[in-house]
Amino acid sequence: MTERRTKQADPKRRARPAAEFDLVVFGATSFVGRILCSYLASRTGAGRVGSWAIAGRSADKLQALRDSLGAAGAKLPMIVADASDASALRDLCARTRVVISTVGPYALYGEPLVQVCAASGTDYCDLTGEVQWVARMLERHEAAARESGARIVHCCGFDSIPSDLGVLFLQQQAIERFGQPCVQVGMRVKAMRGGASGGTIASMLNIVEEAARDPALRRSLANPYWLCPPGTGAGVRQTSLKGPAWDADFDAWTAPFVMAVINTRVVLRSNALAGHPYGAGFRYDEALLTGRGLPGRLAALGVTAGMGGFALGAALAPTRAVMQRFVLPGPGTGPSPQAQRKGFFDLRFLGRTADGRTLRTRVTGDRDPGYGSTGKMLGEAGACLAMDVGKADLAGGFWTPATAMGSPLLARLQAHAGVGFEVLER
Ligand SMILES: NC(=O)c1ccc[n+]([C@@H]2O[C@H](COP(=O)([O-])OP(=O)(O)OC[C@H]3O[C@@H](n4cnc5c(N)ncnc54)[C@H](OP(=O)(O)O)[C@@H]3O)[C@@H](O)[C@H]2O)c1
Repeated sequence: MTERRTKQADPKRRARPAAEFDLVVFGATSFVGRILCSYLASRTGAGRVGSWAIAGRSADKLQALRDSLGAAGAKLPMIVADASDASALRDLCARTRVVISTVGPYALYGEPLVQVCAASGTDYCDLTGEVQWVARMLERHEAAARESGARIVHCCGFDSIPSDLGVLFLQQQAIERFGQPCVQVGMRVKAMRGGASGGTIASMLNIVEEAARDPALRRSLANPYWLCPPGTGAGVRQTSLKGPAWDADFDAWTAPFVMAVINTRVVLRSNALAGHPYGAGFRYDEALLTGRGLPGRLAALGVTAGMGGFALGAALAPTRAVMQRFVLPGPGTGPSPQAQRKGFFDLRFLGRTADGRTLRTRVTGDRDPGYGSTGKMLGEAGACLAMDVGKADLAGGFWTPATAMGSPLLARLQAHAGVGFEVLER
């Protein structure tokens, strides 16, 4: 790991008084926040997630959430704070070691909390997938986080924990088996079932809207090294799938994967932050497997056309308004509990070493990717940051899930969150 990761705390920095809570869930009443809280409530008995509290802008909604959690929620402390109220956010941060935020779209509501966490030395994680907002937060608040000792970890949901920790797991296995990392890794979505919530759709619409009016943002979005620290992005050309393509390694047609934009940037940032343990010329790409023969090819065409249609519809104000009003889920809504239970994901990874040896692994989840599984992943990430990664082990700054929490988070996800990491012998 890098020197930055383990840099000793600055002795001049004032120590924070002991916090009342290990975790505060901000946005506890959001669609995914409610799933997360019910998961944390079920985990508290085992005593492994620490003490926690719920926070949000509405006392009535927090009370209703608390009631819905039964005995586990009866004494759960509540903190009322609006995302735009810096003073309330400072009070909230003073009471906890880690804030988990689900208040999104993050590009609209997320910055004041990141700013307060970075200034106050409060650790933070969220489940944004909004790459443009992450880039903005890095630029504006990384210096303060380094100074205060706050560890800020974005992207702790389906984007991008399975990709980031999936690559870490594959590389750990490659080193163990071959004594060297894989310099090229492809992740392919073999299967997944799950829907989208109003919050996710709102975040996606917001990115498309921002990109539609800002040519510089469109150029940055195309840069695979956008989230890498300046000067660390290797000049290696990364593959970015834009349409249907045959994948000989997986013997199937592939289509672009909608989460690849954020996931690939996070994985490349992990490699850069850790001093390129995957190799300075590491290449990483993601795609969706759609099957063999004509049906596979047609499905790949259908996915590509669907993504293009969504982006076009979202970019134009009149069609965006129609989509928001009549087609897409509204705020606070999402897949039913039954759909979450029936959901799952199965991601395949193929790594290749510099001398041509290959390794196949897979990452699976036992609930729908964006909600049932994301709630559990985010809860374990927050608990891991609060309980497993001491301030002396990880310096302040903006980290990725793999560089901040790595192996302890892998262990937590496998033990508690229904996320599996395994080597496939073929
Ligand atoms: N990475 C992933 O895999 C993944 C998966 C799912 C979701 N997400 C992201 O997570 C976020 C939440 O999604 P969701 O579907 O749960 O959204 P949601 O149900 O629409 O919830 C949004 C939350 O933001 C809160 N909020 C809005 N304005 C606020 C303000 N001024 N002050 C305080 N709170 C405020 C809302 O409070 P009220 O409850 O009081 O209305 C609500 O709790 C979205 O950005 C989405 O893109 C990511």
